Amino acid sequence: MTSRDPGDWRSLRIAPSILSADFAALREDLARVDPEIDWVHLDVMDGHFVPNLTIGPAVVSALRPHSDRLFDCHLMVTDPRRYLEAFARAGADSCTVHVEAHEAAAALDDARALGVRAGLALNPDTPVESVLAHLGTLDLVLVMSVYPGFGGQAFIPEVLDKVRALRQEIDAQGLEVDLEIDGGIDVTWAPVAAGAGATVLVAGSAIFRAPDPRAAARELRARALVP
Ligand code: DX5
Ligand code: ZN
Repeated sequence: MTSRDPGDWRSLRIAPSILSADFAALREDLARVDPEIDWVHLDVMDGHFVPNLTIGPAVVSALRPHSDRLFDCHLMVTDPRRYLEAFARAGADSCTVHVEAHEAAAALDDARALGVRAGLALNPDTPVESVLAHLGTLDLVLVMSVYPGFGGQAFIPEVLDKVRALRQEIDAQGLEVDLEIDGGIDVTWAPVAAGAGATVLVAGSAIFRAPDPRAAARELRARALVP
């Protein structure tokens, strides 16, 4: 297992999602944006929890030697306990399971036992109460701002109330939990999401579909930091 630095939990981090990168050149695409990013967000989909089917541990281990960034694996899978050890061995630094998935709480325990950061994600329709009980044991909570499965979707502003509620709860309890938001993040929504209290911004199409992905990542951070 590895333990790449996640960065200061209070600072803004940019996590490009490889889902929108060139799957025939992931190594090169990550190298292009590396100077302007903090984490790498790897979207894992099983074709059951979400309609799409993407990557597995083999891609994580293939990319591992070529990036010193924290690998933030987003497991959109029905049964995460089946896969956590494989992702940990492949080089994942953090694994986020969905609260809607099978045995989510036990999966979080598994992740910690494997020495990787434990994250919990909630879909747009899932009430924030579903994750509050877990907050004290999490390294990260991920608020989905699109219905999971595909990149390039429109941001769902209604989820911002959950971001604000989680920000308030994390601060009230004095927890050092990363608050990540994922889906439809672009230069318009980045400052709004950061303003609501998100500290990690995932962006796929806004970065990798841009003419200059490195400049796009830099611009996303700059816009997010404007109060
Ligand atoms: C969707 C994924 C997201 C997605 C983000 O299920 O979890 O990480 O790739 O892509 P954009 O930024 O294009 O919405
Ligand atoms: Zn994701």
